[in-house]
Amino acid sequence: MSHLRPPTRETDPAATATRVRPGASAAAPAGDPAARTTAPDPAWAPEALRPGWWRDGVLYQVYPRSFLDTDGDGHGDLPGVAARLPYLRRLGVSGIWMTPITASPDADWGYDVSDYLAVHPDFGTSEDARELFAQAHEQGVGVLHDVVPNHTSDRHPWFVDACSSRDARFRDFYVWADARPDGSPPNNWVSMFGGPAWRWHAPTGQYYLHNFTPRQPDLNWWDPRVRRAFRTILRHWTGLGVDGFRIDVCQAIVKDRELRDNPPATAEDRTNVRLRGQRPVYSMNRPEVHDVLRDWRALVDRHPRRPILLGETNTHDLQALSRYYGAAGAGPGSELHMAFNFRFMGQPYEAGPLRSIVAETERVLPAHAQPVWTLSNHDGSRYVTRWLGGDQRRVRGALLLLMSLRGTAMLYYGDELGLGDAPPVPLADARDPLAHGGLPGKDSRDPCRAPMPWDDAPHAGFTTGTPWLPAHDPRVTSVAAQERDPDSHLRFTTDLIALRRARPELHRAPMELPVLADGVLTLRRGPLDCHVNLSGTDVRLPGGHVLLATDRADDGTTPDALRLAPWQGAVVERR
Ligand code: NOJ
Repeated sequence: MSHLRPPTRETDPAATATRVRPGASAAAPAGDPAARTTAPDPAWAPEALRPGWWRDGVLYQVYPRSFLDTDGDGHGDLPGVAARLPYLRRLGVSGIWMTPITASPDADWGYDVSDYLAVHPDFGTSEDARELFAQAHEQGVGVLHDVVPNHTSDRHPWFVDACSSRDARFRDFYVWADARPDGSPPNNWVSMFGGPAWRWHAPTGQYYLHNFTPRQPDLNWWDPRVRRAFRTILRHWTGLGVDGFRIDVCQAIVKDRELRDNPPATAEDRTNVRLRGQRPVYSMNRPEVHDVLRDWRALVDRHPRRPILLGETNTHDLQALSRYYGAAGAGPGSELHMAFNFRFMGQPYEAGPLRSIVAETERVLPAHAQPVWTLSNHDGSRYVTRWLGGDQRRVRGALLLLMSLRGTAMLYYGDELGLGDAPPVPLADARDPLAHGGLPGKDSRDPCRAPMPWDDAPHAGFTTGTPWLPAHDPRVTSVAAQERDPDSHLRFTTDLIALRRARPELHRAPMELPVLADGVLTLRRGPLDCHVNLSGTDVRLPGGHVLLATDRADDGTTPDALRLAPWQGAVVERR
């Protein structure tokens, strides 16, 4: 395939399209949404990447295979991402994270890498990647590359060599162990995807470890050559122009050297742990992972562009999470710049549980640590389905909360449209390995990965070919429809991001969590209160100047008392 130029199928208005000025929402006449979107923003001219883009801005997760296909093969590609940079820029995002774009046989859709330095041909070429990164920078958008250090594909040449004999050159790149006397696996570890984490390799008479599918053998981070290889990989991608890395399964890459059994789960453990019947004490979360992260941090800090590290830190212990930021010393931390806090999205959509996670996070994270929050990603049901039961009237309240938390907000593509999960894919057409059983209680991830609905063309404007997964129905919603509608979720999200920029205390100031009414979550920062009514009944709150409300008719008004219907919210400047 050739990916030389961005496509001409760009449906977005020209890059010069007018957009909302930061804070313009607040000043617009109440009840006149159109008035909010006419003022050009002089501060929004193309620019180089701003320092602190990841700290002050809103990031956006692109699932490239489902974003935009420009060559008709049914798979989204890098020129497709490049073609939609103007869309992302208008939305106001300052950085994107793309799930893996590296070569892979796709047993786990890119999370089984067969060449860490090559671009997957479905996505394009290294030249396309370089071009995308350069275009993103011109538009003031940073790019995070997804690096997968816990495991490779079973087709990676390292593993192919490792399987050739017990004393193959790359044998120790992986975790091999003898069977127990009765022939059973060396310990009790179970795969994150269900079943034992060990696969017998008859030709060489040992088991190998796989914390995910058997086609994803775990790397052995006790071998210094693995550590050297990943330094080369990080340098390669920074050389191509990325601004940082999202680190897959960050907490698990170093395993217990003695491969001790994990202890059993208890009734107090969270569902995911109970499902697997054991606490992953020795198979992940080892203290030695911090040596690797310190080494990576030193490496990126030496680079003139100062790429950042964002960890998929899948720990539910916030104390453990805080350690991934490393020691502060004189300046910023010594390990990750940001560590995903999955506790937030794992709560029910209720004021009490959400407030307590936010409060605990504020208490536990050290001052230098930048929290990062998200509502959805490619590994589970989207927030609109999971939290809101598909109820579109609740979408803006959830977005308001996300954007008003202290720290960085990460949107998943389509979150800005209020996109829910796509309908289930029949088993015969399923793409996700988890669709075919595995872990009970873990559903197929196909519905949250459906192609982005751009417009009402066939396949929602995603492809001219046959999409790899059925696209969302554009009659339900699409980018084009929401761009036309001055009262859409897309316009709301755009204005919300602009408000964050205009009033940085919204994401920067220390947070207080006053309880002003039952079932209402209030995030207070300085003079600003962000309220969301999760109570199911109307509530009355102290008034003030409404900077932005889920009911746009309230924008710019100054009521004595704020009335919020169920699921509605507002950012209010107190008097
Ligand atoms: C986490 C990724 O987000 C997920 O998609 C993948 O299946 C596992 N890691 C294994 O790499």
